[in-house]
Amino acid sequence: MKAIYLDNNATTRVDPAVVEAMLPFFTEHFGNASSAHSFGAEVGTAVKAARQQLQQLLGAAHDHEIIYTSGGTESDNAAILSALEAAPDRREIVTSKVEHPAILSLCEHLEKTGRAKVHFIGVDKVGQLDIEAYRAALSEKVAIVSLMWANNETGTIFPIEGLAELAKEHGALFHTDAVQAAGKTPISLKDSAIDMLSLSGHKLHGPKGIGALYVKKGVRFKPLIRGGHQERARRGGTENVPAIIGLGKAAELALGHIADEQGRVRELRDRLEKAVLQRVPNCIVNGDRHDRLPNTSNIAFEYVESEAILLHLDRNGVAASSGSACTSGSMEPSHVLKAMEIPEAALHGAVRFSFSRDNVAEDVDRVIEALPGIVEKLREMSPFWADAEKKINDSKTVFA
Ligand SMILES: Cc1ncc(COP(=O)(O)O)c(C=O)c1O
Repeated sequence: MKAIYLDNNATTRVDPAVVEAMLPFFTEHFGNASSAHSFGAEVGTAVKAARQQLQQLLGAAHDHEIIYTSGGTESDNAAILSALEAAPDRREIVTSKVEHPAILSLCEHLEKTGRAKVHFIGVDKVGQLDIEAYRAALSEKVAIVSLMWANNETGTIFPIEGLAELAKEHGALFHTDAVQAAGKTPISLKDSAIDMLSLSGHKLHGPKGIGALYVKKGVRFKPLIRGGHQERARRGGTENVPAIIGLGKAAELALGHIADEQGRVRELRDRLEKAVLQRVPNCIVNGDRHDRLPNTSNIAFEYVESEAILLHLDRNGVAASSGSACTSGSMEPSHVLKAMEIPEAALHGAVRFSFSRDNVAEDVDRVIEALPGIVEKLREMSPFWADAEKKINDSKTVFA
């Protein structure tokens, strides 16, 4: 039985063309990009070419606006800490309640240690930002706004350009975590109000442990990692050359695949959703119907535990993930779904299916074949479902 991978928001398969591009940089071209001799020069040239591939993906004005990092988490941390250091008279941060832990845990830490006041802006039922609360939080005290381009759990896309423009009115820097958006949705930073943007290699069919931070020309940047003069003294440490080459190649391929993501991949996702909603009673699609990543579907099955569904899907050769994080044996519902105020009965039953260009129609067929029976069987065992079934007249809530 072919294993079906529908957890591409967690990580993606490295494209074989990416591996091929990387390999010579382990053996043949092993020089240090900073060395003055020919071994260094050829590697330096390749590292620059990769930067230009990223520049293309992001529609950035200059390749030197790209700083290589170890991934999305480092990029996010570097952006926020730089902004606080660069503007000592501004001690506030604005972010949202639905950000990735790479942002949330840093912001919580900064608040706990008294280094910044943080405004965690809420969202509505489809995961869209509370714009009134956002406007109210903005002031001349804000050093940086950090809002994600697209949510990793639901795929909801924030109107990022407009949000960046509002931040500018108050002289605050604007950073976006585009780890899930890059390569799935078009990005053009050249004439945008976005000052900084994070992305990660392993979310776009590149290697793990490599990412980038875009910093617009003219924005003051204070390095997170100090050391040598690599990355124009903005990120110390010998460059991870093979990974950088892989990231560049992945960016080039991703740019070429955006139309496929927006077309074929979206159709696969929509077909799955439609079939599940038709065949399984009492499920909710979480996220914004219109402004959503084309590859992401978060479906909450009322009165079932997502972990149980995932286990049974896995036995059927299908890998998906839950919208909730499992902490120390107790099931903590997802902070994203909690912020969206998803009904209690559905909060523990959310399953995220995230597609990629590797998926085909048969993958969807396999899920559709297996899922209704799995949910039915689990509900039969649930005392809550027996009670609920009496009350519920089989009404399906779509995009609650
Ligand atoms: C939205 C978002 N931000 C940041 C990260 C962290 O990226 P990395 O794994 O490269 O550190 C992730 C990874 O899941 C993510 O989905």
